[in-house]
Amino acid sequence: MRLFYDIIGDKRDGRELSADDITRFLTGYLRDELTDYQMSALLMAVCIRGLTPAELSVWADTMLRSGQVLSFPDDGRPVVDKHSTGGVGDKISIPLAPLLAALGFRVPMISGRGLGHTGGTLDKLESIPGFRVGLDLDSFKRQIQELGVSMIGQTAEIAPLDRRLYALRDVTGTVESVPLIASSIMSKKLAEGIEGLLLDVKTGDGAFMREMRDAKRLARTMKAIGARAGRKMAVLITDMSEPLGRAAGHAHEIAESIAVLRGEEVPQVTALTVRQAAELLVAFGRSKSRAAGEQEARRRLFDGTALALFRRLVERQGGDPRVIDDPSLLPQAPQVHELTAVRDGHLSRVGARAVGKALVALGGGRVRKEDAIDAAVGMTFPKKVGEPVVKGEPVIRIHYRDRARLDAALELLTGAIEIALRPVLPPELVAGRL
Ligand code: URA
Repeated sequence: MRLFYDIIGDKRDGRELSADDITRFLTGYLRDELTDYQMSALLMAVCIRGLTPAELSVWADTMLRSGQVLSFPDDGRPVVDKHSTGGVGDKISIPLAPLLAALGFRVPMISGRGLGHTGGTLDKLESIPGFRVGLDLDSFKRQIQELGVSMIGQTAEIAPLDRRLYALRDVTGTVESVPLIASSIMSKKLAEGIEGLLLDVKTGDGAFMREMRDAKRLARTMKAIGARAGRKMAVLITDMSEPLGRAAGHAHEIAESIAVLRGEEVPQVTALTVRQAAELLVAFGRSKSRAAGEQEARRRLFDGTALALFRRLVERQGGDPRVIDDPSLLPQAPQVHELTAVRDGHLSRVGARAVGKALVALGGGRVRKEDAIDAAVGMTFPKKVGEPVVKGEPVIRIHYRDRARLDAALELLTGAIEIALRPVLPPELVAGRL
């Protein structure tokens, strides 16, 4: 039997590891048969050398099988989920999950918290007073069978190896690796027992993969893991150069999600929600074309079915459903500061990364793991890139609580807004599709 030491050395020197090497190493780590420093050494070697397709397949499969893999009875409703690689103002999962349930899918959505300058679905849902994201797996599965949708956080039973590896990667400079990110995300998603997955890989200033080239590489790698596991995969690469929609910040994003579910045309957000639903409808043969899928998805937004399901979801998970009729019951920041156009022209840039960082500075994100989030603070965007602006018109409204935090946010927003004299095109929302 090969020593763990030799396995690390092989990866360091660029030799392909066998399936047995990988499973022994990873399961050995989970059983505490080897140490954090040995695991960290292998992770760093993977970061530098990458994984071959064969290695990646075994690596992802071992992570997936490190915990429970959920299953659902076959009742004609496909089990699907969506994953976004994260961005600023990206609240699509919140209207999409009930919309998919309204379209006849089952959606066991296990989401994450904010990471760096990006927001997390769980934190956003928790801005609804009383909403519980910590259901046990039995209640989770029961709710999916009864309602078609549940939205919860990571549990100890799902892909526990990822939990251990992620914590280690976070402190050893080994997060930014395409095969490690792809296997981490896909192991958790596949463990939900899904038959299909919509992947939204973000690209641009506010995305983790800023360059299109890197976004494509991550998208291809995740798609390959899903396809090898026999899942239907729909993959979009979408713009994250400006914040998505007209709102960023937890309670603001819930209010915007409710507007989408009411059938309102929220710039970018309604279109992307409908597009993602349509991709899954086509992938499962429920719609003949993307246009037909989009029409069907819009119908479920306009006829109130998706909103009614969201109301039941909120109720089932302990949240106050009155926020749906009266979003002013969501946490509200007491003060507003406006950033205005310095000249007439066309809005050419609202830097998503600066907005995300400024949100964290306002208290709407975590600097340390244990920090509490202020769900009330946020930013709204009366103007979107490509729109004409007149000197003095508000471009960003900052909803804040504390003057010192506002000052910190303003510093981070320096240079985030640009106004061009000539007309500019808005960014292409869907920049690619695999
Ligand atoms: N999100 C994850 O779940 N895993 C990663 O490795 C990176 C982002």
